Amino acid sequence: MSARQSIVRCDGIVQIYRAQDVEVVALRDVDLVIDRGETVALLGPSGAGKSTLLWLLAGLLRPSAGRLWLDGTDLARLDQRRLDRLRADSIGMMLQNPARNLIGYLSAAQNVAFAQRAVKRDGRRVAELLRRVGLSDAGNRPAGRMSGGEQQRLALAVALANRPRLLLADEPTSQLDAESGRRVIDLIKRAAEADGTTAVVVTHDTAVSEALSRTVTIRDGRVGAEGRRGEDFVVIGREGAVQVPPEYHHLLPPGSMARIEPLEDGVVLRRAVP
Ligand SMILES: Nc1ncnc2c1ncn2[C@@H]1O[C@H](COP(=O)(O)OP(=O)(O)O)[C@@H](O)[C@H]1O
Ligand SMILES: [Mg+2]
Repeated sequence: MSARQSIVRCDGIVQIYRAQDVEVVALRDVDLVIDRGETVALLGPSGAGKSTLLWLLAGLLRPSAGRLWLDGTDLARLDQRRLDRLRADSIGMMLQNPARNLIGYLSAAQNVAFAQRAVKRDGRRVAELLRRVGLSDAGNRPAGRMSGGEQQRLALAVALANRPRLLLADEPTSQLDAESGRRVIDLIKRAAEADGTTAVVVTHDTAVSEALSRTVTIRDGRVGAEGRRGEDFVVIGREGAVQVPPEYHHLLPPGSMARIEPLEDGVVLRRAVP
């Protein structure tokens, strides 16, 4: 493993879904390194492959090709039992559909406590998490009777119950008002600061992406761009591929040709009419 404190390392990840006789290439050659304690917003249009990447990082899918390390462990080398244990004690996952993260007939508090089954039970943490997501008064209500927004907040409390090394959240604020959204952001940042929890958060919510330390934009199954501290960069892919961001498509439309002019520290692309 590398000397860097990377918690996630993707090396040429390819994910192909096979449904009946069609194949969908959801991810192609994704290279990505995420260091411990980073909070990453995963951006990109619908169908880009964001959820697929999250499922792979969670060990819920095995990549069609490429390698994936979590905290130095090559996921492909784990048998199902060890993978299940790693997931239960080290990963907190919040799926896109909030209800799917919860056991409907259990109370809010029981749902959070259940998520601690692989680690030491900590009742104070359960109460603290419910308070932080604004559900202190809802501890005894069955999760199945809660609104979508309440379920979403509870799902975050569940995902953080075991102080995971890696939190994976798919659109965690999609059903929340601004106030509840802020609570969710605060909780994710607090987990990163207090417990060193690394977060990868799929989001379309600029309040979320601006609050996190880094953005990674997936387009057409590839990492096309990254942002840090408000500045966006395109990523030079394998074979030197560059994705021109949509906001420049009027200058360099997809399918057009460009002339490459070298500079001392890079190149310029100019539209050309051959
Ligand atoms: N279980 C599946 N079977 C077949 N195709 C799928 C499946 N899940 C996702 N896809 C396809 O893979 C691509 C990426 O999907 P997804 O990862 O859900 O993207 P995003 O989360 O960025 O919207 C899409 O073309 C989608 O239709
Ligand atoms: Mg998705």
